[in-house]
Parts: sequence; structure tokens; C-alpha cells
Amino acid sequence: MPALWTVLTVVLGTWPAEALIFHLNESEYQRMPPLFGLDDYQVCLSEPGGLYCLARLDLYAEPDNQLMRMIQEYSAVVSKHYNHTALDRGICVRRTCADYVGNRTLNRTELEEAISACVNHEILRQYGLKAHLSRLYYCDGPGGNTIDNADVLDWCVAGICAAFITASILGTLYDYVLNFYHEDEKQRGNKYLLSFSAIRNWQWLVTADHGDPRLERLKGFHGARSITNVLIVFGHSISLMGAGFIDSPHTFENTYEQTPYRIIYNGLTIVQVFFVMSGFLFVYNYLIRTEKTKASWKAIPVIMLIRWWRLTPSYAVMVAFTATWLRFLGTGPLWNLYVTSGVVADCRTYWWHHLLFIHNYFPNDKFCAVQSWHIAVDTQLFFVGLLVYVLTRKVARQVMLGILLVLGIVLPALQVWFYDLDGMMLLAPEFLRTMESDTFHYLHVYGHTNLAGYVVGMICGELIYRWQTDGHKITHSLYTKGLWLVVPAIIALLYSGQGFYADGERASLPVRMVYASTNRLVLALIAAFGFIGVVMKSKTILRHLMEWRGWLVPSRLSYSVFLLHFNFIFLLLGLKTSMSPVSYYYMALWHLGITALSYIVAVPFFLLVEAPLNRLMKNILTNFSHLSSNGEVQLPKQEKTQFSRC
Ligand SMILES: *[C@@H]1O[C@H](CO)[C@@H](O)[C@H](O)[C@H]1NC(C)=O
Ligand SMILES: *[C@@H]1O[C@H](CO)[C@@H](O)[C@H](O)[C@H]1NC(C)=O
Ligand SMILES: *[C@@H]1O[C@H](CO)[C@@H](O)[C@H](O)[C@H]1NC(C)=O
Ligand SMILES: *[C@@H]1O[C@H](CO)[C@@H](O)[C@H](O)[C@H]1NC(C)=O
Repeated sequence: MPALWTVLTVVLGTWPAEALIFHLNESEYQRMPPLFGLDDYQVCLSEPGGLYCLARLDLYAEPDNQLMRMIQEYSAVVSKHYNHTALDRGICVRRTCADYVGNRTLNRTELEEAISACVNHEILRQYGLKAHLSRLYYCDGPGGNTIDNADVLDWCVAGICAAFITASILGTLYDYVLNFYHEDEKQRGNKYLLSFSAIRNWQWLVTADHGDPRLERLKGFHGARSITNVLIVFGHSISLMGAGFIDSPHTFENTYEQTPYRIIYNGLTIVQVFFVMSGFLFVYNYLIRTEKTKASWKAIPVIMLIRWWRLTPSYAVMVAFTATWLRFLGTGPLWNLYVTSGVVADCRTYWWHHLLFIHNYFPNDKFCAVQSWHIAVDTQLFFVGLLVYVLTRKVARQVMLGILLVLGIVLPALQVWFYDLDGMMLLAPEFLRTMESDTFHYLHVYGHTNLAGYVVGMICGELIYRWQTDGHKITHSLYTKGLWLVVPAIIALLYSGQGFYADGERASLPVRMVYASTNRLVLALIAAFGFIGVVMKSKTILRHLMEWRGWLVPSRLSYSVFLLHFNFIFLLLGLKTSMSPVSYYYMALWHLGITALSYIVAVPFFLLVEAPLNRLMKNILTNFSHLSSNGEVQLPKQEKTQFSRC
């Protein structure tokens, strides 16, 4: 049979694809050198002249080495295996490599050679393979990697934080005194200072908006936003396990064989729910606000500025903190890798990309506020949507929406074709380890590849606005029954991507292209279907669940939580001193811990930074509009529901 197969493939002109190994049993797996290793950090540095180095080593061997071939064939299954030819090691140099180093002082080149020779010797002895040092990340001397001296930047950021706290204290005291002496003159007083009052901001946090009944209909979005946010934090917590330095990489790789995990790993598409929500909110609010006064093109910069101001201050404070004080919060063998040279260094270099919301187009920025790519996408799509809505009317607008939708379907497919990407973002182990993935950078996070969800949201907003204006109601029982299917349908869609993890050759290019262009669209359509039900007040459990009063506060905090949670992940990664365990319960625990911590820290963050600056902006703009009063720009009455909020 094999001979026949070879003959056939030669005749047909296709050689069998490179052999792949999809599964190894435990005993075979143990034949490979362990992927990760960490010598004891504290003990190492407490010794005289202690030196601890973190290194990446590449395995190599003679071409006919059977074990090496096995490792390569196993690692070639990139969707669910680590690259086992690259090892990460934390090495206590004076101990582990005593024979090569002794107690000489070495310069960098000598040190690299010594470590390379030392590890090579060990791997050769135990596994019969050779290893050479491909990257020496850093070495920590006796002091560890604690940083004692803050620089100018650090003190600037500290000053800004202190200013926020002072302003809040002053504002709160002022508010308190004002309330005490003039009980019925609450409107008096300096409203700029009152923007900082924690009392008022707290009230704002816990009180539902009252106003235009059409905007009140959107309260179901609080539920959708909170749930999606918690799910996203959950997805990100996986990187605590996947990033490496785990005691059993095999167990982690085996999770890719289980259906529940595959659904979770495919869950990155969930973010489309946010885009649908954003597109919807933008159009719906826009149409309501421009009922009386039409917006002209002159409004575009002002609206963009309002949006920028609403999103940026809290974001900037988070990035500034990450770029400065985060690195003082801990130490450990991996602290430098994940925190100081990882997220902190990237935030120092690329902070201004973040403030302009263009960082999703810069793949070099791997770690700084990774999660916020979707805020950038949202801003870019918002700009596109705004251009379409301000500059076109009626038929032209519909044509433009149609064109954008077609682009949203075609562009992801083209992107897959140009860069030979996967059909969807696969949360592959090696991506979690290195944060490098072409599919992530060239398909997942670009603005133009996420157009479809946003446009579906915009069309949905247009439809609902019209139905409400016409007094149209959705009472058809088929529709209300259909709403039951929203959640199962989303799960089914996520499940559909599991084929990309199946054993076998990589899916063919056309399949990947079709999947890339349709899966976001389908998820967006399902989400839009659900939103229509919620906003049109269909009588279903789904709506009641989404409109539950308890979602209000988590939903208001969701932006802060979204900004903050990733730093906890980096913190936990950097604080590791030994291999962490792989198990469902640990993952659940980490997720709950990170979610809880993020929400707890989000409350002061919201009261001190996000809410005051939003209200300050609103007050300034109100004044500004009194002065100019050209009536062109309708100012937000309640910024909570103003446009989209991620
Ligand atoms: C693992 O697989 C190898 C080769 O397939 C086989 O020889 C060995 O007996 C297996 N070990 C166990 C414990 O099943
Ligand atoms: C694994 O890593 C090595 C060295 O870093 C690299 O040469 C190789 O291409 C990688 N293998 C895969 C399948 O990515
Ligand atoms: C290290 O240096 C000390 C003196 O500086 C010497 O006494 C000792 O023997 C040396 N140890 C080794 C392993 O070379
Ligand atoms: C390190 O030391 C070796 C030998 O002592 C010397 O040849 C080499 O130039 C040094 N390298 C650097 C970068 O100083």
C-alpha cells in the first residue's frame, strides 16, 4: 500500500505533505527535552556572585537523527503544539554551569558561549541532541531585577496620578460643603470642580439614565456588554497557561483535543458582538440626534474629538502607568521577560500609537495594551461610519453601506490570500508563547478586516430607527422563539471553527478564505438578530435577562475593566517563580481572580479618572457651544449612551 501511494503521488505530481505527528503518548513525549525549565531564583541570587540568565535554545541534530525528526514533525502541527525545537530555560549560571563558568567574571560573548556549551552538554548527555543558544534574553545579578531608581518619566506620571487624587479630594469636599450649606441649591457651584466630586461620580455610576425613551430602550445593552466583557477577560486569562513555563505542556496541548476547550479557543470571534453594538449605537444615536438639526461635514472633527476625549484620558492613564510604575511592582526570574522588557518597553516605545488609535496596524508593538486593538478598530470604523452618514443621504447612503458590507466580506478573504493566513484566529500554543501570529496581525486586528460586523450593526441601527418611527412592532412568535437560539447559534458557530484544529493537513486556501470572510459576518448577523429582539422589546427571557438592573454597574465599569485586566495577567506572568500547573480549576481560579481584581480596581479608577474627565469634557463643551452656538453640532446629553462605547 505505501508503495502504491508513493507511485500515485509521483504520477499525480504531488508529493506527500511533510509527515506530521498529531499525537504522542506520554512515554514518547518524555523523550523530548522539556520545553521549559526554571532553576530556583532566590537561592541562585543569594549565592555570592549569583547570576541568573533566561535563555532560548534551539535544538539541532544530524539529519538522520530519529528523535529530532519526531520533534520536528510534532512541532509542525502548529495549530495545537508548541514548537519543541525551541526551549526556554531560566539558568542559575554559577550552579548549573559551574564547570563552564567557575567563578570568573565573563563578558557577554563569553557568557553566551558558556551557557550554550553547558546546555548543549546536558541535552547531549540526556537526549542525544545538540542545542545552541539562539537568544540570551537577560541575566540578573545578585540584586535581582528590582529597579530602585525612578526616572523623570516615572515622577511625571506619579505627579499626574497625585493630581487626579487631589482634584478628587477637593471636588468631593467642595461638593460635601456645598450640599451641607445649600441643600436646595445643588446646581450652584463651580461645575468644573464638581466634575471631580466622587459623590456625584458615584451617583452617576449607579443611577440609570433617564431621558429619551428611545435611548432607554438600549438598557439591554448593559447586559450584553457586561457578559461579553467577562468572556473576553476569560479568553485572555488563558494566556496565563499558554504563555509557557507550565509544568505540563503536554496536558496543555491535549486541551486542544477537547471540544469545550476548542470552543473557548475559537472564542476570539466574540469580539464581533462589540462591533455590532458599536455600529448599531452609532447609527441609532446619530439618527436621533440629527432629527432636528442636520450635521454638516464641519461636525466631523468635533464628533471625532468628543469620541477621542471620551476614550483617551483613562486609556492614557493606563498606558502611562504601564510604561512607568508597573515595573516596580514585582520581581522574579520572568519579570524582565514579561514586564520590564515586554509590556513596559512596548508601552514606552509605542504609547503615541495608542493615543492616536492606530496601533493595530503596527505588528511590532506586541505587548502594550494588547487587548485594546479593538478600541482602535472601533475608532477607525466609527470614523468610516461617520463619513458615510454625514456626507451621504438616502440612496447614496444605502449604496455606500452596501459597498462597505461587500468590502467587509471580500477584504478578509484577500488578506488570507495575500499572507497565506488561517481562516480564523487560532489561539495556537506558540502564539500564546511568543505573541507572534500572522493571522493575528494581518487578519484579526486590522480595521478593514472587521468592517462586516460594524456595517451589520449600522444597518441594524437604521432598521430599528425606522421601525420605531413607523410604530412597527415585532411580535411574530417565530421571531420571539428564534431569540432562544441566539446563544446556541453563537456556540455552534464557534464550534464550527474546530475543524481547523483537527488532525490532517491544513485546510485548503479557498476554504480558509471563505471561512475568514463569512464567520465574522454570520456571528454579526446572529448578534444583530439578538439586539433587534432586545431593543424592539420582544417578550423573551433573553431581553429580561439583558435588562436586569444589576448589569448597570458592571456595564459602566466595563471600559475600565477592559483597560486594566491585562496588566494583572502580565503581573501574574512576571511573578512566576516556578512552573505553574495546567488544569481547568486553576484556569477558573485565575479568571475569577483577574475579573474580581479588575472590577475592584476599576471602581476607584472610574471615580478618579474616567468619570471626572468625561464630565469635565461635557462641561467644557457645553460652555463652548454657548459661545459659538452655531447649532451645527448636537452635544451629547448623556455620554453614557452617546455613540458606541466599547
Ligand atoms: C507509546 O507509543 C509507542 C509507539 O507508538 C509504543 O511503542 C509504546 O508502547 C507506547 N507506550 C505506551 C505506554 O502506550
Ligand atoms: C521552531 O523554532 C525554530 C527555531 O526557533 C524554527 O527554526 C522553526 O521554524 C520553528 N518551527 C515551526 C514549525 O515553526
Ligand atoms: C573562586 O575564587 C576563590 C578566590 O577568589 C577561590 O578560593 C576558589 O577556589 C575559586 N573557586 C573555583 C571553583 O574556582
Ligand atoms: C570578551 O572577552 C574575550 C576574551 O576575554 C575577548 O576576546 C572579547 O573581545 C570580549 N568581548 C567583548 C564584547 O568585550
